[in-house]
Amino acid sequence: MQGLTLIGSGLHPLLFRAEIQALTGPIEIINPRVLYIPLTESSLERLSRAALLDEVLSDSGRYWVNPQASQEDLSQKIADWAQKNLPEGSFAVRTRRLGVGIPGFSRSTIDKEVGAQVSSKSRPVDLENPENIISVVISGPEDGPIHRDDIGQNSPIVVWGLNHPYWKRESYSGRAPTERPFFQPISLDPRQARLLISLAHRRTSETNTVIDPFCGTGGIAIEAALQGIETLASDLDSRMVEGTLENLASFGVEATVEVCDVSRIHSLWGSRKGCSFVFDPPYGRSSWTSGKDMDPFFEALSAAHRIDSEGTLSTMLPTTPEALQATPSDDVEVMGMPWSELEPMIIERGWKPVLRTPVRVHSSLARMVVVCHPAD
Ligand SMILES: C[S@@+](CC[C@H](N)C(=O)[O-])C[C@H]1O[C@@H](n2cnc3c(N)ncnc32)[C@H](O)[C@@H]1O
Repeated sequence: MQGLTLIGSGLHPLLFRAEIQALTGPIEIINPRVLYIPLTESSLERLSRAALLDEVLSDSGRYWVNPQASQEDLSQKIADWAQKNLPEGSFAVRTRRLGVGIPGFSRSTIDKEVGAQVSSKSRPVDLENPENIISVVISGPEDGPIHRDDIGQNSPIVVWGLNHPYWKRESYSGRAPTERPFFQPISLDPRQARLLISLAHRRTSETNTVIDPFCGTGGIAIEAALQGIETLASDLDSRMVEGTLENLASFGVEATVEVCDVSRIHSLWGSRKGCSFVFDPPYGRSSWTSGKDMDPFFEALSAAHRIDSEGTLSTMLPTTPEALQATPSDDVEVMGMPWSELEPMIIERGWKPVLRTPVRVHSSLARMVVVCHPAD
């Protein structure tokens, strides 16, 4: 079966893989940031939702760099591949490296060698404005990874393919929280919002509706609405509701936004199917120590389960920066309590955590991404 080779952002390889799996189903892990998926009718549409995907290659090839491997051999393999797979018309070879690259494999030499071998009258090299791009990715070990990964050091590999003509990397230009008409320091970054939304997808059940009961300035609502997903947002604070509406309007998209305490969202939205609950709950040191202020989060869990007991839930919870160094089995602090105490409280409210991994927000701030499916 034909497939696609996907290159992920170096920001968080583990979440890149989780995101692609949530969006498209089973994945073959070639290395932490390089995946292979079968090409189906909906693959490209689904991939267009991904936040951590950098590149999509079709008709791809791969070359494991073992002790017998050499740059000349690699260039020859790519040239042989190009004879079969490169359409007629001008082309360019663009090589880049992931991590620290692979010793003895130089980007510019590969570009030149493959270009020279493949170039012909019907396929001339055009570095400025090529009709086709052969993208070559030299993938070596990561250079001081930002986030811990459960896959150890990867074996070096080179992959290549044609840049897929119908896939374009999402540009967040003009979407930064500070560029929106209504801004507050709580605003969620658009890429993080998009990531939470796509992690809540499930291959087996489409997300029809995104519900955010703590919409704030609308970080999640904007990204869901831009993807054409029905979006139901609410917040206790009417200024936030007005601000979210103003922000949505500035992107020319619509969502239903209401003033509502999280404990009452079931009366507001009723029972539904195909819902993803995506939110970052209110937080602050004081809110965890008093215990009582954990209530909005727990109320969100219970209300979400009442609205759609078969839905999914994706959230970002406060954690300590030490969580970034912890191993998955360490009992890290999340929302001011050990995870081993919090997890049963989530399960009690009808949700089973299926993914939990910390992300660095900035040098001294971390959040725990938690994705839940129904507990029963
Ligand atoms: C961390 S902020 C969400 C930020 C948002 N994701 C954004 O991009 O701007 C949490 C929000 O929860 C709201 N909130 C606090 N308590 C609430 C409650 N009991 N019910 C509903 N909303 C509440 C606050 O007004 C605040 O806007």
